Amino acid sequence: MKTDPLIYINSQFIPLSEATISVLDQGFLLGDAVFDVVSAWKGNIFKLEDHLSRFEDSIRATRLTPSLDRNGWREAIIETVRRNNLKDASIRFIATRGVSQQVIADPRENKPTEIVWAAPYIFLADDNGRKNGIRLMISHLRGFPADTLDPRYKCVNRLHFQLAKIDALEAGYDDVIWLDQNGYVSEGPASNIFVVKQGKIFTPSEGILRGITRQTFVDLASQEGIEHRECQVSTFDLHTADEIFTTSTAGGALPIREVGGCKLKFEAPGPITKRLDEMYWKLRDSAEFGTPVY
Ligand SMILES: Cc1ncc(COP(=O)(O)O)c(C=O)c1O
Repeated sequence: MKTDPLIYINSQFIPLSEATISVLDQGFLLGDAVFDVVSAWKGNIFKLEDHLSRFEDSIRATRLTPSLDRNGWREAIIETVRRNNLKDASIRFIATRGVSQQVIADPRENKPTEIVWAAPYIFLADDNGRKNGIRLMISHLRGFPADTLDPRYKCVNRLHFQLAKIDALEAGYDDVIWLDQNGYVSEGPASNIFVVKQGKIFTPSEGILRGITRQTFVDLASQEGIEHRECQVSTFDLHTADEIFTTSTAGGALPIREVGGCKLKFEAPGPITKRLDEMYWKLRDSAEFGTPVY
């Protein structure tokens, strides 16, 4: 018999099939909510403190006032994984603006809704994609500029991500990336992007969510003596790359074999993608940077 996972909502653990939030929640009505996603591997939550810091920044910049402080979120996250008896998990935690009883209301008066949902670990791509690379579309949609909604907010306003993804899937691609307002490469719906050229790696510096996995790969590259630069990356750089990979909490590095309808020069995954991804998974196995759940 399949068990009903337990989800944390406002201090209570509730079976997922019974878990609800109000239809008047501003997170639902207005997309007024922030979140983060962290993962556990072999019972250790990777870089939990980095994810909590990013979440705290999103909360602060959104001027949300959740009842949980950093310790409270940490405990809720660990306890949610524990109660669901998960070793390898993808854990999403969310703070919404909460419920307004009036149609027009002062958003500062609401009590935020707090949710932690732990599911079995997911990868962004299937086995074949992870082994042989995926095909990326370059969307005609652009990311939000910083003067509208800075991409450093990890927020639920993601309709343009969904539309870009649907366009890509309907055109037969596996995933999508988009450009910023100036035409430079930004990121994808759940990943950052790296270009490898002549043994060096390059990743966009602006117009992106500061991925925890992105930073991990930058650190691993440093450790390996691989030169790396955070800079503007254009579609020219994509088309002339030796290797391209994306990074995400959902799977580490994902090799790219084709971008914007053009096959890369070499087979994916290239040697640097492979080496860094192996290092990443060694790190995950080692429990370094891990917060034990059990
Ligand atoms: C828009 C966006 N960019 C990049 C990433 C990758 O970030 P991380 O490595 O922290 O998972 C995510 C994660 O979901 C994301 O939503």
